[in-house]
Amino acid sequence: MGKEVIQAIKDRVSIRDYQAREIADDKIKDIIEAAHLAPSAGNLQPWEFHIVKNKEKISQLAELTSGQEWIASSPVIIVISALTDISKQKYGERGSSLYAIQDTAAAIENLLLAAESYDLGSCWVGDFNEGDVKRILSLKESSWPVAFVTLGYTASKAEETRPQRSIDEVMTIIN
Ligand SMILES: Cc1cc2nc3c(=O)[nH]c(=O)nc-3n(C[C@H](O)[C@H](O)[C@H](O)COP(=O)(O)O)c2cc1C
Repeated sequence: MGKEVIQAIKDRVSIRDYQAREIADDKIKDIIEAAHLAPSAGNLQPWEFHIVKNKEKISQLAELTSGQEWIASSPVIIVISALTDISKQKYGERGSSLYAIQDTAAAIENLLLAAESYDLGSCWVGDFNEGDVKRILSLKESSWPVAFVTLGYTASKAEETRPQRSIDEVMTIIN
């Protein structure tokens, strides 16, 4: 049994330095199951999770980013794709440009929290060209890569605490 959810939310930070230690397949599967339980518009579940363990492919994906070399040493990269066609069929333009992306983002957040719950480090990475990712991973035309999530046992955490906008600045109460 993993961590309680509020604790996982509070403890999660982006990890950009990993141990070489392998992650057990059943752990990865549990994490993907948590992602796959996210809410989605019309319950369409318009997502795909590509688990990249191959070192060569991991290096190729890292090279697509703007010099983020740390990504190459992630033991696993999960590439999350939105299947925008599925959402478009039911909801038109709003489905493909808005719902499919929101659905996928909800799945990604579940994934990060599940990883934290299993004491794994992760980082959401958005810095790549979608077309290049599709080519490297031979994704089907309708599979739109939205994010990489790097995953591994934490080697070190960033020293500085994350600056946080105050709760009063981001919250309004409308009575
Ligand atoms: C859409 C999105 C894209 C991101 N892309 C990157 C990225 O390319 N590289 C990176 O190191 N972190 C990336 N991050 C992680 C953020 O930098 C990080 O979540 C933020 O600074 C807050 O820090 P924390 O995750 O430790 O709380 C991304 C996060 C999101 C949500």
